[in-house]
Amino acid sequence: MAAVFNPFIPSYQANPYRAYANLRAAEPVHYSATLQAWVLTGYAPCERVLRDPAAFASNPYLATSEVARALQVQRRSFPLGEVPTVLTSDPPAHIRLRSLVTRAFTPRIVEERRARIAEIADALLGAALDGAEGGAFDLVSGFAQPLPVIVIAELLGVPPEDRALFRGWSAALAGQTNLFTTPAATEAARQASRELIAYFDRALAERRRAPREDLLTALVQAEDAHSGTGSHLSHEELLAFCILLLVAGHETTTHLLANGTLALALHPAQLARLLDGATPIAQGVEELLRFDSPVQAVARVAVRDVELDGRTLHAGDTVLVMVGAANRDPARFADPDALDVTRADLHHLSFGLGPHFCLGAPLARLEAAVGFAALLRRLPALGIEGEPVRGGTFALRGLQELRVHTG
Ligand code: HEM
Repeated sequence: MAAVFNPFIPSYQANPYRAYANLRAAEPVHYSATLQAWVLTGYAPCERVLRDPAAFASNPYLATSEVARALQVQRRSFPLGEVPTVLTSDPPAHIRLRSLVTRAFTPRIVEERRARIAEIADALLGAALDGAEGGAFDLVSGFAQPLPVIVIAELLGVPPEDRALFRGWSAALAGQTNLFTTPAATEAARQASRELIAYFDRALAERRRAPREDLLTALVQAEDAHSGTGSHLSHEELLAFCILLLVAGHETTTHLLANGTLALALHPAQLARLLDGATPIAQGVEELLRFDSPVQAVARVAVRDVELDGRTLHAGDTVLVMVGAANRDPARFADPDALDVTRADLHHLSFGLGPHFCLGAPLARLEAAVGFAALLRRLPALGIEGEPVRGGTFALRGLQELRVHTG
């Protein structure tokens, strides 16, 4: 029987890992006529594609299928939709952009937030516990959603009174990571982009007039270390990057906290290892990332004809690197469907690989380590009430609601 891949059925959303396993066993490099894209579920082909930007581009405008062209039209209809960001550019543009933003977004800047992130996590959990009804509260709305948005907003220098705006904008934009969206969802995302651009336009102008100790100021001042010409990010590049930070950094981290909490609640022996300190939380976080990755798919476009696992991919073909599937490949990870916080091989692909490796990984890791530490301190008998409500999109896997017991 020919291999099939159908991400549109409810059982896929509930648990895509079975579908990945079936597809990987039959065709780790599979062409989906429905998606008009190659779907990669084997670790080796996923790794190969991510490590080879010369053959597999990140610029979505290079894709030639009808589905891809429709997505390009949609993308173009967004303000700044054609401005390349680190995520959607290729060398040499990517090298320049990445070097500029890396100068502002350094591991030191992130590490300096540790104590503050712990404070935010503890305050959110305290408030959620105080407001709990019937001995349970929703971990997503009370903790996993607000924590990353407050952290990124504070890092950028957004005042507390504007945070609610950011939460709304971020949620509207996240819907765009789905394969197909409704016209209403697309319009909501477009409106959110317009409002975000107007917001950052004002905020960046203020930083130019009066520099502050924040990431927005650092970005304005970021000089092009690579070319040595002293050139700065253009105003449009700056705006596009600010929006990318919000989109890339918010929902992903929310999903890590929510998926990870659910996984630990369902695996008490693993939870116990973290609780008694037998396994450091940072190590546990890596296994949670592998086990139920917030990012399930990243896209590339073949720029020339390429052989992959005996199949020929043609120039212009869309390639979906299913990192969530690669993380469960038995050829790479022993007993891949088991959650094992003591696992020594932590080379999951949840942050990608190669030149586009997640720029925010140090921040995401810090938020998760500090966030789970606070959660386990407050709720050592972590337990779930009722059925978790799945959320997320094709590319992002997460939860919309996860009720946890207070005691
Ligand atoms: C658990 C949380 C996160 C996960 C799972 C995640 C995952 C990823 C993945 C898979 C990529 C690679 C995309 C590709 O190869 O096309 C990526 C890139 C990126 N991420 Fe994250 N991310 C997370 C958190 C964050 C945070 C907190 C930020 C920033 C505040 C961030 C900013 C970025 C940026 C700017 C890129 C583009 C880098 C480039 O293309 O050079 N991410 N992320």
